[in-house]
Amino acid sequence: MNIRELKSVANAIVARQKGVLAADESSPTIKKRFDSIKIESTEENRRRYREILFTTEGIERYIGGIILFDETLRQRTRDGTLFAKLLSSRGIAPGIKVDKGAKALALYPGDKVAEGLDGLRERLAEYKQLGAKFAKWRAVIEINEHDIPSAFGIRANAHALARYAALCQEIDLVPIVEPEVLMDGTHDIDRCEVVTSRVLEAVFAELDAHRVVFDGMLLKPNMVIPGMKCPQQAGVQQVAEATLRCLRRYVPAAVPGIVFLSGGQSAEDATDHLNAMNAMGPQPWQVSFSYGRALQAPVLAAWKGQESNVAAAQKALLKRCQLNGLARDGKYARAMEAGE
Ligand code: 13P
Repeated sequence: MNIRELKSVANAIVARQKGVLAADESSPTIKKRFDSIKIESTEENRRRYREILFTTEGIERYIGGIILFDETLRQRTRDGTLFAKLLSSRGIAPGIKVDKGAKALALYPGDKVAEGLDGLRERLAEYKQLGAKFAKWRAVIEINEHDIPSAFGIRANAHALARYAALCQEIDLVPIVEPEVLMDGTHDIDRCEVVTSRVLEAVFAELDAHRVVFDGMLLKPNMVIPGMKCPQQAGVQQVAEATLRCLRRYVPAAVPGIVFLSGGQSAEDATDHLNAMNAMGPQPWQVSFSYGRALQAPVLAAWKGQESNVAAAQKALLKRCQLNGLARDGKYARAMEAGE
């Protein structure tokens, strides 16, 4: 393990004003996104859409890394350049999603566990050959009104995340460790805080036991936020305070950066929450973003699958990147949403 290299890649991804663009939608997920704008999910449409994202001028000031799906890491621009090569040449680290999705945890009805450890060492070696500098594994933790997640469900996911992270560091790929407590459901913000606390505590205990070096990884957590169907929604400051309280208790200061997922928040809310947390800084780690929907929803809406809309789509992406870049410094304000 080359700790210097791991640290340097992790630090570059969360350098000043920078974060991550999550563009690693699996084939079923990108189909859902394309359905919403009535575009067929063909390999060429997926390639073209990602090409529009990756060739947007100016995003390299705000985007330190982009997470890709297996298919995308093997695709090329129109003029034949591998996407990973294009991104590296722009100073953006290419990364790869490596979990194979959440499946029902046997004998634990209601709990899920992410799969994908079998053969992972060999897959990581190939991804590295293809140019990946980091990898991501997403564990999904659902909250219900009763006893989900179970303590064992949390442990099973934490264990898998740590096995994955150790395999990444063995081959000098920075692991982005993503334990996502879902926003679905009716639970309130307090329950989200309790569950997120238990999850982070378990994840760092397993990472430590697996000898993962905290300095050479990034954490991609959910924010502490009420369920989408909770009647008691929370204000921006309340979310920022609860999230930081939880993270400060459970995330070691050696971790270079926290890159939040957006998880179904609107693009504006995700930026506003990030901004509020940075305005309360400094924190022991960089506080940044790794948004999928919160960066891409406005892009898809502008593009609609039409070549004539490419400039508008790229403008929408650059705008979200700039606003999140400002939020990294605590300098964003909602009023900026109105401007061009
Ligand atoms: P969202 O920001 O849309 O939650 O996506 C982030 C991600 O990578 C989920 O795995």
